Amino acid sequence: MLENLTAQPQDKILMLIEMFKADPRADKIDLGVGVYKNADGVTPVMHAIKTAEAQLWREETTKSYTGLAGDPGFSDAMRDLILGESVDAARVAAAATPGGTGAVRQALELIKFHTPDATIWLSNPTWPNHPSIVRHLGLNMAEYRYFDSESRGVDFDGMMADLARVKAGDVVLLHGCCHNPTGANLTLPEWQIVADHLVAIGAMPMIDIAYQGFGDGLAQDAAGTRLIAKCCPETLIAASCSKNFGIYRERTGLLMAVSPTIAAKPTVQGTLNHLNRQNFSFPPDHGARLVTMILTDKDLRADWQAELKSMRDGMIHLREQLARELRQRTGSDRFGFIAQHRGMFSRLGATPEQVELLRKDHGIYMVGDSRMNIAGLNATTVPILAQAIADVGV
Ligand code: LMR
Repeated sequence: MLENLTAQPQDKILMLIEMFKADPRADKIDLGVGVYKNADGVTPVMHAIKTAEAQLWREETTKSYTGLAGDPGFSDAMRDLILGESVDAARVAAAATPGGTGAVRQALELIKFHTPDATIWLSNPTWPNHPSIVRHLGLNMAEYRYFDSESRGVDFDGMMADLARVKAGDVVLLHGCCHNPTGANLTLPEWQIVADHLVAIGAMPMIDIAYQGFGDGLAQDAAGTRLIAKCCPETLIAASCSKNFGIYRERTGLLMAVSPTIAAKPTVQGTLNHLNRQNFSFPPDHGARLVTMILTDKDLRADWQAELKSMRDGMIHLREQLARELRQRTGSDRFGFIAQHRGMFSRLGATPEQVELLRKDHGIYMVGDSRMNIAGLNATTVPILAQAIADVGV
């Protein structure tokens, strides 16, 4: 059997990592994979994580299993972080997962288990792993317009025109904040229009929130998710702790299912537990425990929030610097969108040929659709990037 396997397409983001590593140029710049880096190009272990790890090492007495849904303390702390007071906690079933991708996978497994004929609506563009997992599970898929390649903002009219075709029982996948790959995000009034539409047609929202705290602030970045959860009778939310806690390799995520009623929750919870059991049994706990310690301890939480804020402010500053440098070099305001976008990514709007030139002639690596990881820049590389963008004629 194994000799008959066919090669699978490589993930274009992960492929870039290998290409970058293999490039011998000392001045190459990596704007590929979505990993936060500080000005020295390092992805740091956050201070609060280090403190929590030291404390955990001293205090942890067992590494026996938690539960199929992980530690309920983790679910509670994350639910509060993401949903705040927007819904009655008694309606929210939750299960820890291996990373945010694990949460996306389990949400789609739940849909497949319960309503295999539903169509999953994805933004065009979206994170490539979304369509890949949907396809892998054999679910139906459709796209809604999202990005306006002229303004580099959200094509909201196009989005709503496409969402008009969504049917009752379909699932609409939305990015909670910091849209990946574009960096263009819905305003709160737009979230409201989407929520009202989904309620009116009886479709289910599924939110992928992987960058809370990387945009405008913890509460601000969760505002759209909270609004949807409040307005819609049921919502699936896949959350990641990889970025905002900097614990990528610990694989820490959570799937939340906001049930229509309190009475429905136990069965929903049981189903999430069952699906975890089928796929990986117990979820990993180390990262989840650190996150729980940080979120439930006043000092650790303040420390984490301060560091997260400085990361966020740094990215906004880099955006403003890049937009400024591009204005100077091109004599036009057409790159102003970079300062408006939020999160780690911006879609530059370069052609695949220009992306290739940036890589070949300038050693600058970005994803082929011209997604740049802003956190891969620093004050020294911003002018270099700006000049290169101007040179290749974007
Ligand atoms: C990204 O979009 O670059 C990250 O989410 C990393 C990944 O797994 O693709």
